[in-house]
Amino acid sequence: MAGHSPRACPSQAARRAGITRVVVLFELMLALFLLVTALCWYGAFRWRRRRLYELAARVPGTPELPLVGHAHKVSGNSEVMTDPVDTQFILKTCLEKDDLHRFMRTIIGYGGVFAPVSIWRRRRKIMVPTFSPRILEQFVEIFAEQSDVLSRRLAAQSDGAPLSAWPLISAYTLDSVCDMNLYERKSFLDLLIKQSGGTKGYSNIELREEVMTLIVAGTDTTALVLGFTLTLLAKYPDIQERIYRELCDVFGKSERQLEKEDLPKLIYTERVIKESLRLFPPGPFVARKIEEETILPSGRTLPAGAGVIVSLWGVLRDPSHWGPDADHFDPDRFLPERFGQQHACSYIPFSSGPRNCVGYQYAMMSLKTALATVLRRCRVVGEPEKGPVPQIDVKMEIMMKPVNDFQLQFAKRV
Ligand code: HEM
Repeated sequence: MAGHSPRACPSQAARRAGITRVVVLFELMLALFLLVTALCWYGAFRWRRRRLYELAARVPGTPELPLVGHAHKVSGNSEVMTDPVDTQFILKTCLEKDDLHRFMRTIIGYGGVFAPVSIWRRRRKIMVPTFSPRILEQFVEIFAEQSDVLSRRLAAQSDGAPLSAWPLISAYTLDSVCDMNLYERKSFLDLLIKQSGGTKGYSNIELREEVMTLIVAGTDTTALVLGFTLTLLAKYPDIQERIYRELCDVFGKSERQLEKEDLPKLIYTERVIKESLRLFPPGPFVARKIEEETILPSGRTLPAGAGVIVSLWGVLRDPSHWGPDADHFDPDRFLPERFGQQHACSYIPFSSGPRNCVGYQYAMMSLKTALATVLRRCRVVGEPEKGPVPQIDVKMEIMMKPVNDFQLQFAKRV
């Protein structure tokens, strides 16, 4: 009727209330069902992994939180527990890479660093001869030329505001591996292609994957070490001057390019690079998968299927190997009389065991050449550090990088 709002009759209202009750009840039942299913799934998940939890509980450390475990510990400052004997054992005997690496396989396929052991073993055998000292020394000429380009570029931007040195440094390492020059000279990649030919060598796909691997494993790593070393030298001018004095002893007033015979004479320069690598290893962690239940020398048991992260960073800064001044920047700790006392597995920036870095000698030669060439032409300048512990903020992006992209300032040497 006009002027009256429509009203449900009592029986309709009762029916609607009944329907609402049924819907609410249904939603409650559904929620309960989902909760019970989730709890059952979680219970089954924990039950399947009971051996892992039982063994993990025996590892000393902070207690885990429900559901998140120790995930909250991955960010921020946390203490790392390291044992060189266990570390050495894992790196020697557990060669399978952890599933964490699966995403890298979509980028570089089964290239050496991330390949399963069944594929890696043969590929490593083919690659190793490319890194023999006799072959590597041929590359010093390439390092010297490419670092001459780098030092000229840095000098051209000297006496101005700080610049991000990262693009120039990483161009040096990439150009050294690929050596895009026009001479009749073999680059590192040419050599790998030649070495790997024939029926016992790599197929075309394998070769492509290994070339990708070397570009990934061999360029940013070396560039990061060079960047961290230059940053440290800006903070510690006395150490930089000591390197310069060594360079003056070796090269005198000559402007000649570095040659392979010079490298063994750069003794202090090498100590500085080693110390920089100790404090700022570009790959601070190595992840391995435990295939069979493994008892470590310390008596701890790692269950089959577990992933293990070996903290190279933790080992390299552990006061029980390096003393109470483990965080200090002190290149002289690599003097033979001091370094000789160390446990073999306390210095492992290139990892250890059969899957260690195949390119460590290449990297050291490249780093010594680049550092010597840059420091002969320029000085890295900056605010000196207030104490012996260098304060450099870092972030993790697969590798460990500086937060500031190596903002550095250079001054030309006269
Ligand atoms: C200072 C620079 C470098 C550092 C700190 C470094 C460090 C490492 C580390 C920690 C690993 C992992 C080893 C493991 O899983 O136990 C590795 C593997 C590897 N690195 Fe390096 N690396 C450097 C430079 C290079 C260079 C210049 C090359 C080649 C030109 C190279 C080629 C490789 C390859 C092929 C592997 C895989 C080895 C295998 O699984 O058989 N690296 N490196």
